[in-house]
Amino acid sequence: MRQVGMLDLQGEYQLFEDEIRAAVEAVLESKQFIGGPAIGELEGAMCRSIGAGHAIAVSSGTDSLICAMMALEIGHGDEVILPSFTFFATAGAVARVGAKPVFVDIDPRTFNLDPELLEGVVTEKTKAIIAVHLFGQCAEMDAINKVAKRRGLAVIEDAAQAIGATYHGRHAGTLGDAACLSFYPTKNLGGFGEGGMIFTNDEGLAGVTRQLRNHGESQRYVHERVGGNFRLDTMKAAILLVKLGYLDRFNRRRRENAARYDALLADVPVTTPFVPDHNRAVYHQYSILCDRRDELMSHLRERGVSSGVYYAVPLHMQPCFASLGYQGGSLPVTEQACKRIMSLPCHPMLTDEDVEYVASCIRDGLGATNEPCASAGAAKPEA
Ligand SMILES: Cc1ncc(COP(=O)(O)O)c(C=O)c1O
Repeated sequence: MRQVGMLDLQGEYQLFEDEIRAAVEAVLESKQFIGGPAIGELEGAMCRSIGAGHAIAVSSGTDSLICAMMALEIGHGDEVILPSFTFFATAGAVARVGAKPVFVDIDPRTFNLDPELLEGVVTEKTKAIIAVHLFGQCAEMDAINKVAKRRGLAVIEDAAQAIGATYHGRHAGTLGDAACLSFYPTKNLGGFGEGGMIFTNDEGLAGVTRQLRNHGESQRYVHERVGGNFRLDTMKAAILLVKLGYLDRFNRRRRENAARYDALLADVPVTTPFVPDHNRAVYHQYSILCDRRDELMSHLRERGVSSGVYYAVPLHMQPCFASLGYQGGSLPVTEQACKRIMSLPCHPMLTDEDVEYVASCIRDGLGATNEPCASAGAAKPEA
């Protein structure tokens, strides 16, 4: 039986094994395991790749969020608005800097924060909005930035899942005051271990962030502020530089897979991803909505196809946030999505036959209808 996994890190590795070994060897030879040229080279290459002014490599995506909020002086007594439908780290980082997460509901078609709901939750304590570009598709940044400007708030992009995605032709990571990226191994630009990056076009903010990354040190033995050890290892930076060379090709392949799924699932009773014309999504996940999700997932499992649920429990319902007082029903779109969402394999090593096989398993699990799916056909293959 054909096996189709959510990832194929082994297959990917074979493509660049020699380059990675050479890069690792060079770091081993240099004996410079912290700092060194690879960090600056990675930061420069990432800036060029997305058109950002400054990049600061850090120890993880979670730390990039924490460090960005510290740089923006967000802390105790402050509120930060964010979606509840995201990975835990987005909200965890807000709580870690001492601020209060204020959750808003999402757009039912894109699963990203619904900008219409922002004004209703802004208070005099609100300091920032975190816009998460979920599943590799940018949130509605123009509308979000408009509210932020009107109310004097900072905008942080959580671009952990969206490297290479664009919004009106501009890259994720360049659309707010600061942006955060994760190099977690499963991400579109996955490293060999933990890692992350902060982007900003604000030189002052970049300088503060660089200090915070290294215990707030402004010059040797002088600590301007209290930061942390948020540094990225040199070896990981050298590996990421190699992998960055494959990012466009991998993202293009994810988009081709998505376009194929869109077409093959058009008459199946699932809702395929909706991508507005001004967005280019990079499909960190290809997520569908299905009323019989758990049944479909076990049907796929029996046929050798992996799938995943991102996310099963909304963050406003997590036990650690119980004191915030959210009840079931307070963010209905998010809660519905958590019950119906599932992600299909979409990684760059999939063959056309793999995608066709997954789609045929879904088709024989659910049956086709004569009604084309409302939001199918949104993914566009690369020109
Ligand atoms: C949306 C989002 N935010 C933040 C993170 C945290 O990144 P990391 O795991 O590198 O700390 C992740 C990924 O894990 C994520 O998907």
